[in-house]
Amino acid sequence: MSTELTVSPVAGVPKAELHVHLEGTATPDLIRRLAARNGIALPEERLFRPDGTFAWNDFLHFLQSYDIAAGAIRTAQDYRDITYEYLSACAAEGAVYVELIASLDHGRKVGLDDAEHLAGIAQGIDDAYADHGIVGRIISSIVRNFGVADCEDVARRTVALAHPYVVGFNMAGDEAGFPAGDYARAFAIAAEAGLGCSVHAGEHAGPESIRAALALPGVVRISHGVRAIEDPALVRELAERRIVLEVCPTSNVVLGVFPSYEDHPLGALRAAGVPVTLGSDDPPYFGTTIGREYELAHERLGCSLQDLRTITETALDAAFSDTEGLVNQPHQPGDL
Ligand code: ADE
Ligand code: ZN
Repeated sequence: MSTELTVSPVAGVPKAELHVHLEGTATPDLIRRLAARNGIALPEERLFRPDGTFAWNDFLHFLQSYDIAAGAIRTAQDYRDITYEYLSACAAEGAVYVELIASLDHGRKVGLDDAEHLAGIAQGIDDAYADHGIVGRIISSIVRNFGVADCEDVARRTVALAHPYVVGFNMAGDEAGFPAGDYARAFAIAAEAGLGCSVHAGEHAGPESIRAALALPGVVRISHGVRAIEDPALVRELAERRIVLEVCPTSNVVLGVFPSYEDHPLGALRAAGVPVTLGSDDPPYFGTTIGREYELAHERLGCSLQDLRTITETALDAAFSDTEGLVNQPHQPGDL
């Protein structure tokens, strides 16, 4: 019997990720290590299932578990380590560029100064680039269910910090309970400062939520956006305006937005000419990785290897920082 291992051809496809939440990349093992280092007792039964994975049973419960786990991330060194571990894992799967959606709120809640918070993430980005040649950048995220005033405050702080690695602005959280229109001022502050803007919409609410997100200042990408498929006129508009959807198939299936991969609209959106990219969202919560999302797109969502390369090109074109040459002239580790 042959013991030869077969390597999937998807392994050789360069990958780029525009939709992943930095706090949501920390695995249960890493959260436990950080809690031990910071002398924090985790609410074991609330946070973990018996098999050691994060416990949650629907979207709002997921957001609660996410906030509890993020509470164990306390210091700049913690943020450096999370960033470095995530980018290193992505590089091992063939990723060349990742935008990390990071929330100043989660640092502030545990008493971490904003500048130190960003410095920790930046150190992780620099170390991962030096060791693996992967480029990381930061998207500053507001969380809509933390309230309008808080979101405007985060927008102002983001702009005041003017960190060179912060290239974009996003809004996550409870989409159905907190409509986008209330956050226009926060987006105006970010957009006027030149940050690229994206919004979570069309995940747990329908086409109207996507339209409201598109009406916000500066928005050129939508995080998820997959429920546009319920409205053919909106699909046409997305295609015509070249609005990029940052699609996270496993997140959608696991959170029940669609019952299975076979019901997922990635293929239909692509066929309609909507520019799409692939993301892992919150990988350990949903049992995925960016490499796995590319594999699944190939195996179950009708994407050829060439389609996957196009998806990466779309992501690099839609990136909020300069990604020129990242695929054709990859950086060699050590040439910083
Ligand atoms: N925060 C982290 N993951 C999220 C998601 N999938 N939707 C909205 N907010 C989030
Ligand atoms: Zn997300």
